[in-house]
Amino acid sequence: MKPITIAIDGFSSCGKSTMAKRLAKELGYIYVDTGAMYRAVTLYALQKGVIAQGNVDTHALIAALSAIQVAFTPDEGVLLNNEPVEDAIRSVEVSQWVSKVSSIKEVRQKMVELQRAMGINKGVVMDGRDIGTVVFPDAELKVFVTADPKVRAQRRYDEWTAKGMQVNFDEVLQNVIDRDYQDQHRAESPLVQASDAIVLDNSYMTREEQQIWLMKQVEKVCCTRI
Ligand code: DC
Repeated sequence: MKPITIAIDGFSSCGKSTMAKRLAKELGYIYVDTGAMYRAVTLYALQKGVIAQGNVDTHALIAALSAIQVAFTPDEGVLLNNEPVEDAIRSVEVSQWVSKVSSIKEVRQKMVELQRAMGINKGVVMDGRDIGTVVFPDAELKVFVTADPKVRAQRRYDEWTAKGMQVNFDEVLQNVIDRDYQDQHRAESPLVQASDAIVLDNSYMTREEQQIWLMKQVEKVCCTRI
């Protein structure tokens, strides 16, 4: 079967990463979590004081972009300048700032360039917000994932409390709603469903059901294109 490019876009906290990772594993494809890349840049900005006093210093961040290396390893996940940061990029602080950082045009240009290089040979499952619209508009399979905001907030809340973090459900829900709004209304590559994407509402689906559904879509694309 000829390798294809699979773009999985959609709202935050829909479980895109988990389903995309699993799909990539089953197909023997590369998996790229593009949200993790924007999170790594945000972590860098926080560590270097580029985000301070409630503001992102956009000029300083753009100037620092050439010093920021983001890569992936199968064992350690995302690396920021060769340091594993998979856990650090999931913090509440990074989650609060990442929408702002990812709305900066120059940040996006650099990340999109990296993402295109990672998927150049196809055989890739990439999840994010603009994969099917900007990064790989010719992807053979595009999935747009959505779920009820309350269901998504509950998933994020469970994940954080399981890690022993002190969080308040209403704040988590507000964070989900705010991020949806920011992702959909930013000037640069807003979150929109590609016209040729297939919608997956996974509010009441198990991970197993989602995997079966995704594999069916892959089979359909691969059978109709060969
Ligand atoms: O998928 P996530 O929640 O880890 O993404 C973190 C943030 O990065 C989210 O607010 C939107 C942004 N993002 C983006 O703008 N473009 C992408 N391709 C992926 C994520």
